[in-house]
Amino acid sequence: MAKDAVTMEKIVSLCKRRGFVFPSSEIYGGLASTYDYGHYGVLLKTNVKNAWWQSMVHGRDDIVALDAAILMHPRTWEASGHLDGFTDPLVQCLGECKRRFREDHLRETIEADGGDPDQTLQCPVCGGELSEPRNFNLMFATHMGPVAEEGSEIYLRPETAQGMFVDFKSVLQSSRKKPPFGIAQVGKSFRNEITPGNFVFRTREFEQMEMEFFVPPADAGEWYEYWKAERFGWYQDLGVRPDHLRLREHDAEELSHYSSATADVEYLFPFGWGELEGIANRGDFDLTQHAKFSGEKLDYVDPGNGERYMPYVIEPAAGADRAMVTFMVDAYDEEEIEGRERVLLRLHPRLAPVKSAVLPLLNKAGQPEKARAIYEELRAVMPAEFDTGGSIGKRYRRQDEIGTPWGITVDHQTMEDDTVTLRDRDSLEQTRIAADQIVGELAKKLASPWTSPKLA
Ligand code: GAP
Repeated sequence: MAKDAVTMEKIVSLCKRRGFVFPSSEIYGGLASTYDYGHYGVLLKTNVKNAWWQSMVHGRDDIVALDAAILMHPRTWEASGHLDGFTDPLVQCLGECKRRFREDHLRETIEADGGDPDQTLQCPVCGGELSEPRNFNLMFATHMGPVAEEGSEIYLRPETAQGMFVDFKSVLQSSRKKPPFGIAQVGKSFRNEITPGNFVFRTREFEQMEMEFFVPPADAGEWYEYWKAERFGWYQDLGVRPDHLRLREHDAEELSHYSSATADVEYLFPFGWGELEGIANRGDFDLTQHAKFSGEKLDYVDPGNGERYMPYVIEPAAGADRAMVTFMVDAYDEEEIEGRERVLLRLHPRLAPVKSAVLPLLNKAGQPEKARAIYEELRAVMPAEFDTGGSIGKRYRRQDEIGTPWGITVDHQTMEDDTVTLRDRDSLEQTRIAADQIVGELAKKLASPWTSPKLA
């Protein structure tokens, strides 16, 4: 495996410098581990989510979309098991620093370093003694209405999944679908994580891309295998290098209370392997629980033969922020060109926030006007930029850093023969092309298959 130039520090710094992602509430000193997405970050994350919608909904006919409310009836969380079971074991330093840690994370780190995970733990910061573990519920609680009284407590959803189970009946009745079929949702979830970290990898507010696929029980095993392969392939199709991806099956101890089988898609980050997405066989746990707690019948009756059954659920559950940072980490590159270093994101063109930049070589002689006309034609078809500020080298470098795959330069020759230079971000190859063919040419390139040049 070729050595990567990337580090998390470089990604964080690029994100801040170019306005992809920056610390939230910075003028007040920031709010721990919360981030705001700036212009390019919004564009990139939107492209990630659109690629997910494309593969989950638009590209097939057995999945429908949902956008459920973040605030759900509090009984939802009793039924789902989150009120009692969505906890992490928390230990606190009794020594100097008084910091809190997840006990399971501390033991995992010791094991990864070759130590005995069952040993007595010490504070990893100051070496102090640690308290006995205490279970800590990760749901954010708040109150509905003007008075915080008994019964007014509600929760910010810790996963989008429950919306699909609670709305199962409405969707079934209105969508004319029958198992096997899925409900897909993208939206914010909230978890009061004890140890957020690694930039947007683990935060307390994040976006999930989840799909619940309802199937006849006998077919669940087959669909579980299908979705594992499908989701693993999605990251590769969008350019992530296969040698940095793996699919890891959970052993019995690691399984959630609702799951009979789970596999994680993991990526090799600079800090080690990290989970991008879990694919779980949730059986009939959720629908059975919600039927019990709500008193509604949620089983499916096959109109063909009258057979009644509670569908099983296969769930691919991904994080949009984690996926975005994965695409950035995987695409990050540095190289020296004619004695000068360039930093670039070799993003799949479909994900790149801006697809092309139109740059007049000179800020005179009709070149800016010509470049602007090409830019206006292009931006009607794909996200484009027009940049006149600074030397041409500096402008190329700005585009390389945000991953723009194509640069179009208008120069003196353009004014004579109406051709422009088309520059490729990865190969740096420059070709001459008629100005009136640019839009068609780039649309063709954008639709073409792509593999990471880092694999070459
Ligand atoms: N409905 C199942 C579920 O929520 P999960 O493994 O807890 O499963 C799914 O979450 C995905 O959501 C994770 O694989 C990850 O990508 C993302 N995710 C979970 N917690 C997160 C956090 N604190 N910060 C960012 N992303 C998170």
